[in-house]
Amino acid sequence: MSFILNNKLTIPAIGFGTWQLTEDVEKVITEAVKAGYKHIDTAAAYGNEAAIGATLKKLNVNRETIFLTSKVWKSDLGYESTLKAFEQSLHNLQTDYLDLYLIHWPVKNSESNWEQVNAETWRALEYLYKNGKVKAIGVSNFLVHHLESLLENSTIKPMVNQIEYHPGYLQPETVTYCKAADILVEAWSPIGSGRLLQDSTLVKMAKKYNVQVAQLCIQFALQNNIVPLPKSTNSKNIAANIQFEPFVIAQEDLNEIYDMNEVGFSGLLPDLVPF
Ligand code: A2P
Repeated sequence: MSFILNNKLTIPAIGFGTWQLTEDVEKVITEAVKAGYKHIDTAAAYGNEAAIGATLKKLNVNRETIFLTSKVWKSDLGYESTLKAFEQSLHNLQTDYLDLYLIHWPVKNSESNWEQVNAETWRALEYLYKNGKVKAIGVSNFLVHHLESLLENSTIKPMVNQIEYHPGYLQPETVTYCKAADILVEAWSPIGSGRLLQDSTLVKMAKKYNVQVAQLCIQFALQNNIVPLPKSTNSKNIAANIQFEPFVIAQEDLNEIYDMNEVGFSGLLPDLVPF
């Protein structure tokens, strides 16, 4: 299963998330590739690009069969430093192009020059895109005001906005804005960083469909045309999150999930809050 980005690029519908994956990277990435993931999401800030690159090399994975995403970190925002950070990511990942490159976090609008720095960083991504170094470009953790400002100050619209998205944290304003603008939403922490595994509504619903709660959360994102990026270091869970039998969540159950109480933002560091 796949989605099509606004520049017509195909993106595999489920990606393997690697935030906080710093130990056993080779083992985990090997299991993910064997389980069938064709889409890996990393970032310079995750500190695992080099280990992921080395593992893909070791596995002799045909580069064209993997959709590889990375992100420029906050400390590298701005035109020149973004271009430099991109080259470092390519080097770490042992590749000569990325499928998708994202601005990891916007500059907060509490900072005086936020619009300018976001726009200059975006100009670097546009340059990389126009020069064929990356097949698609986008942003991450952008809220509506960040997106509005970027669209006013740019020539190429982002293809993706990667945000936290899961039952109990649906960010409806941002999702609605992205859908109207044909910006594909990707979901980080689609299982709520594991916080939803014991949720009584989801446990009951998962039983009804004879699936795991994690699989229910993944299907929930897919049915909302959102790319889930589940994380796991457990080989059974890695496989379960991509190999489940197709099922469709009924509208009444979708509605029950839409009505769930807010569980709040998963960012572990207060500094991660983008607003
Ligand atoms: P584990 O590594 O033991 O599988 P998210 O993707 O929302 O950030 O959630 C990640 C968390 O969810 C991790 O703690 C992971 O633990 C857990 N997890 C991922 N997939 C499953 C699954 N299929 N069943 C149970 N727990 C899962």
